[in-house]
Order: sequence, then C-alpha cells, then structure tokens
Amino acid sequence: MSTPIDPTATSAWSELEAHRASFEPDLRDWFAADADRVERLSLPLADLHVDLSKNLVTDEILAALVRLAEQTHVAERYAAMLAGEHINTTEDRAVLHTALRRPKGAAPALVVDGQDVDHDVHEVLDRLGAFADRVRSGEWRGVSGKRVTDVVNIGIGGSDLGPVMVSEALKPYADAGIRAHFVSNIDPTDVAQKTAGLDPETTLVIVASKTFTTLETLTNARLARDWLWAGLESAGAIDGDEASRTDAVAHHFVAVSTALDRVAAFGIDPQNAFGFWDWVGGRYSVDSAIGLSLAIELGPEVFRELLAGFHAVDEHVRTTPLERNVPVLMGLLNVWYTNFLGSQSHAVLPYAQQLHRFPAYLQQLTMESNGKSVRWDGSPVTTTTGEVFWGEPGTNGQHAFYQLIHQGTRLIPADFIAFANPAYPSTDDGRDVHGLFLANFLAQTKALAFGKTAEEVETEGTTGSLVAARTFEGNRPTTSIFAPALTPSVLGQLIALYEHITFTQGVVWGINSFDQWGVELGKQLALQIAPAIEGDESALAGQDASTRALLEYYRSHRRT
Ligand code: F6P
Repeated sequence: MSTPIDPTATSAWSELEAHRASFEPDLRDWFAADADRVERLSLPLADLHVDLSKNLVTDEILAALVRLAEQTHVAERYAAMLAGEHINTTEDRAVLHTALRRPKGAAPALVVDGQDVDHDVHEVLDRLGAFADRVRSGEWRGVSGKRVTDVVNIGIGGSDLGPVMVSEALKPYADAGIRAHFVSNIDPTDVAQKTAGLDPETTLVIVASKTFTTLETLTNARLARDWLWAGLESAGAIDGDEASRTDAVAHHFVAVSTALDRVAAFGIDPQNAFGFWDWVGGRYSVDSAIGLSLAIELGPEVFRELLAGFHAVDEHVRTTPLERNVPVLMGLLNVWYTNFLGSQSHAVLPYAQQLHRFPAYLQQLTMESNGKSVRWDGSPVTTTTGEVFWGEPGTNGQHAFYQLIHQGTRLIPADFIAFANPAYPSTDDGRDVHGLFLANFLAQTKALAFGKTAEEVETEGTTGSLVAARTFEGNRPTTSIFAPALTPSVLGQLIALYEHITFTQGVVWGINSFDQWGVELGKQLALQIAPAIEGDESALAGQDASTRALLEYYRSHRRT
C-alpha cells in the first residue's frame, strides 16, 4: 500500500497559503481588466460548456492548484484506477466503474485480477438489453398472461438514488408506456404508497442490492412479495399454494446484485438475475445492471447513450492535460474553497426540473465518498475533507434559500446547470417560457458574481439604513455548466463529471473515496435496538439512558 502524499507538505500548498494571505477577490475588477478571462476559463467537456470565470481564482492561483494536483499525483492515481489497481485499500478492491461504460471492443482489453472485465460487462449489458426489450415489447408477461405496465425498483442508496434520478431526468424518453416506481425507505409508508393503485398482475418488481443483505431492501422486497401474492390471489390469478406462489415470483420478481447466491435464497430464479462485481461501488453503480429499471422504462438504446456520455468524460479525464481537465479543475477549485477560503458546503442548482433529484444523488456520491477522517493507509487526514452538497432546482431555490447565498455570511460555491433547449417547449403570451427560465439562471450567476454596490443602490433613490440591506457584496463564486439539451448522453457526462470531481478531491486529500465504513455503526446498533422495540427487556436495559428513555416513550405512545 502506498503512503498518501500529505498535500499540506507540498510546495503548491505553501504557494496557495501565500495567495490566500493577500487574497482580495474582486470579480468586477478582474472582468474589467481582463477581456480574455471568460474565454480562457470557459472549457469544453464533451457536449458541456463549462464556464469557470466567475470563480474566485486568478491565473496564479489556478496554476498553483494544478501544481497541487501534480504534486499529489492525481493523474497517476487516475491511471491506477483505470488499470484496476486495488486503490480501495480498506476493502482490497479495484475500482472500475469506468469499465462499465467502455465501448465493446475497446483496446487494449481490460483484464483485472484474472477477470476479462470487458467481456463480462458486455455480456451482462447484452442480457440486460434483451430482457428489457422482452418486457417493453410485451413478450415477457405476468403470471396471468398480462403485459407489464409498471416496474417497481426496490433498493436504497446507490441502488436507488441513481436510477430514480435518471428516471426523473429522462422521463421524456420513456416511450414504452411502462411507468417506473422506486421504493427505498424502510418506513412502511414508502412501499404502501408506491404500490397503491398498481395492479400486481401487470407489475414487475426489481430487487436491486449490491450485497443483497441490506435490511431496508430485503424487508421491502418481502413486503412487496406479500402484496403481490395477496393481490394475485384475490384476483384469482393464482392459488395460494406454494407452487403457484413460486411461479408468481418467477414471473414478477427479478434481481440485480453481486451476490447471486443470496438472490436464489430469496426465491428469485437466478435466470432472472443480473450481476455486477465488487469493484463497482454502490454510489458508482447506476451504469451497471443497477440501471435495469432504466433500460426497461427508457429502452436499452437510451441506456447505452447514457453510458456513452459517461465514457466521453472518462476519456477527457484520461487524455486532457491537468490545466484543461475540467473535472480536475473543478475538484481543485473545491479544494481551494474548502481548505483555503473556509467554505463548508457546495450548492448544486440545476435549471431543469427534470434534474430535481440530482442534488440528492450527488449527496451520496460526494459525501459518502469524501466524508473521511483517515487516509487510505489509516493515518489521520492532514486537512479538512468533504463538503456538504445540497441544492434544489432553480427557480424554486431562488424563492427559498438563495437569500443566504447572496447576502449571508458564509461562502457557498455554487454550480449552475442549464440547457439551451427544453424538453417541453411552451410559450406564454408569445414569450418563450424556457427563455424566461434561462434569464433567471443568467441573472442569478451575474448577481452573485458582481453584486450591487451602495452607490448603485443610492442612485435608485434608496436612502438611510435600507441602503446596506439592499447592497450585494458580490464575489460569490459560481460555475456555469451549459449544454444544448438534457439528452441521455449529456446526463451521463454530468454524472461522470461529478464522479471525477469527487475523485480529484479524494486524491488531493489522500483518502479512499470508495469505502463507506461510516454507515456501519448505525446499521449494527439498529439490529441491537430492534429487540428492545419488540419488547425484549434485557435489550432495553442494555441501552444508554437517553436511548432507554426514548424507547420508553415509544412503548408508552405506541397504539397497539
Ligand atoms: O449506505 C451504505 C450503502 O452500503 C451504500 O453505499 C449502498 O449504496 C447502499 O448501502 C445500498 O447497498 P446495497 O446495494 O448493497 O443494498
């Protein structure tokens, strides 16, 4: 295991500290004095146009950040990842989500730990596409002979957030009349509400779980199976005997997992299971068989276009020098804001309603990856790591939390994502509604960057204490990501962009962005507490005073 480089001990870090000491950002001045700033800092990334010019950096700072990437071996770590080295040190695994989107026949072939990765990836992809086509065409039928109208994906974390986000984003491509639903929470409300109104005879359930051990997913899968049996029995579609129940599961349940033995133990026919591999992290798995619900709802072609978008960005990262490498630069900017300018959170503000789940998706991607206090060799980190990612689509966010970004005391870098063409063009009184929407995106990034001075406020006739209240400091950093339209490929590009931003930050900080031990303790304790919920007195007695008191509150308020 290699020892991570301490970023704070590099000469680039010292340079950045010196810059920070005398740093007085002034975007108004920088734009006025430098006619080329926008052109220099606007970079192409496949179909994306990325404008970094409204960030709080000078050329000197950017150059020092690039040196930081060099000195912490960002490019070398990326190459190690692509080659299948076990960079996930705590689990002793390769990290190969990039292999999921390599085109068929890519050379040289990728063989890792004796596995022909390209062959296996494409074998599953082909099976997945063929199965999706059977469901979409109506060849695959439910136990009573009816075609599938609804697909319910049961999964959580990476087995849910990616599929649901993509399903929402690409809804205009859903062309087979099949609706997708997503159940994740163990709160029984979730499965109850998502299955309400569905017909078991025309519903296909996908149990999606990398490990096939996750409490929430297996519990919800059993609830869904009970719902299926009860519904089919009351419709007279099956008898209540064991054989017809097994037959019903074979027609209405499929699974996606790396643990195909556990799938079989659950009662799902292994023929109807789609595998992936331990070198795909849950939060990096939407482009694996975990995307089965998407292949069914949107079609295998759309799914392949999504993968092609990912791959275009992987290739950009692999072949572009650091100083023009968009994901690397965006990751480095995040390091600048986090470690030198003290920002703690990062807003992602899509100007596209279809991307309303994108911030939630990024929360798992970025925070489960980089929320770490130890480095990949187990030694403590040497600087602050991780950012709190959050956001809502514009313009909803404008009417909720933008006030704090504009005039609050915290520095919140924000990524704006917008598209030149809408999925649903419409006019209001002769005006293009999407045009108005985009005017808001442009207005917000402009206001955040350049603000409004006290003199400008006074020129408008405002006086007294209101002047300060109506003044905007500006110098609030933003990145604008613009694309022609939200196509499957563009969505793949956006996801891959953030995967590689996350990776860059992880490398600089010396952390393993691919494990998630921090979620384990809560899972273990829930299993210990469950008996106390169910009335076990010794389990209750074994709890700390606060947990015991809360359990007693529960017991005294529970309606039996
Ligand atoms: O939250 C922890 C986690 O392990 C995530 O990393 C993962 O995406 C999620 O649980 C679901 O896990 P699985 O796909 O194995 O059910």
